[in-house]
Amino acid sequence: MTILVTGANGQLGRETVLALQAEGESCIAIDREEVDFSRPDQVAEAIAAYAADWVINCGAYTQVDKAEQERELAFTINRDAARAVAEGVKRSGGRLLHVSTDFIFGGEQSTPYREDSKPDPLSVYGQSKLEGEQAVREVLPDALVVRTAWVYGVHGHNFVKTILRLAGERQELRVVDDQLGTPSWTADIVRAMRSLMKAGASGVYQFTNEGVASWYDFAEAIVAAARQVGLPVVAETIRPIPTEDFPLPATRPAYSVMSKVKIRSVLDYPIPHWRESLHAMINNL
Ligand SMILES: NC(=O)c1ccc[n+]([C@@H]2O[C@H](COP(=O)([O-])OP(=O)(O)OC[C@H]3O[C@@H](n4cnc5c(N)ncnc54)[C@H](OP(=O)(O)O)[C@@H]3O)[C@@H](O)[C@H]2O)c1
Repeated sequence: MTILVTGANGQLGRETVLALQAEGESCIAIDREEVDFSRPDQVAEAIAAYAADWVINCGAYTQVDKAEQERELAFTINRDAARAVAEGVKRSGGRLLHVSTDFIFGGEQSTPYREDSKPDPLSVYGQSKLEGEQAVREVLPDALVVRTAWVYGVHGHNFVKTILRLAGERQELRVVDDQLGTPSWTADIVRAMRSLMKAGASGVYQFTNEGVASWYDFAEAIVAAARQVGLPVVAETIRPIPTEDFPLPATRPAYSVMSKVKIRSVLDYPIPHWRESLHAMINNL
């Protein structure tokens, strides 16, 4: 079986490629040098030419704030190229796993969003990802869409690495405490994606680690874990602040916790709590 991974230099793509190689799968890793998603007119043909049994589409425009200025590019990559990837997979007759996000939700709920909850994106990024999901499913009704959230891992840029850096530089960190979600470790996401693929799943599934956190809770746990493993920490205070004190161009959902009831019925292992996985990741650094 040949598995093609797009966005292979990104944090989730890299983890996926390494996990597939460790499993002994035949894996083709591509990024923008091989297939440029900003040219969707060329994407379907290029993807079809690989004739992969599965395509895991981790390639995306992920700069949530910059997308507010680069609206057209975000839609080109997250919607039009996603559709073109699906068209390529359709032509070559393989299966597609497309990765999506909790930012398709509006944050009005106070109980976990289900796969069929009504989306209401608040940002260009969220809207472009939602339209990407819809485009993929239109072209390939049996596509597997995996929504995840608050992604971090050893590879690439993420909140954990930013907090580790700042905690080594500053005495005080100020972190938003009124947005709730679930941090998700790339290693756990990949394991869940592989289980879904092996089960032959199709349709939308949501995967995050277990538990709920604010960005403040997450930052506190990162700094505590860093201290525990002896990483350099000068930060003495982590101060919780409201979103309005840390204005950013893109609006984030105040609550984006996603239900995992559906995916739990496929996984034959318990999903780790986010605190447990954070420790594992920091130990792996
Ligand atoms: N990060 C999160 O917190 C989060 C949360 C929920 C869902 N997700 C979803 O998870 C998936 C993976 O995200 P990630 O965190 O791994 O993001 P990432 O680290 O930013 O990786 C995205 C990948 O897409 C590639 N890419 C960007 N523009 C491209 C283009 N024009 N042509 C081809 N490839 C291009 C990037 O290539 P370069 O390295 O060359 O830029 C990179 O390899 C995405 O679908 C994202 O929406 C992420």
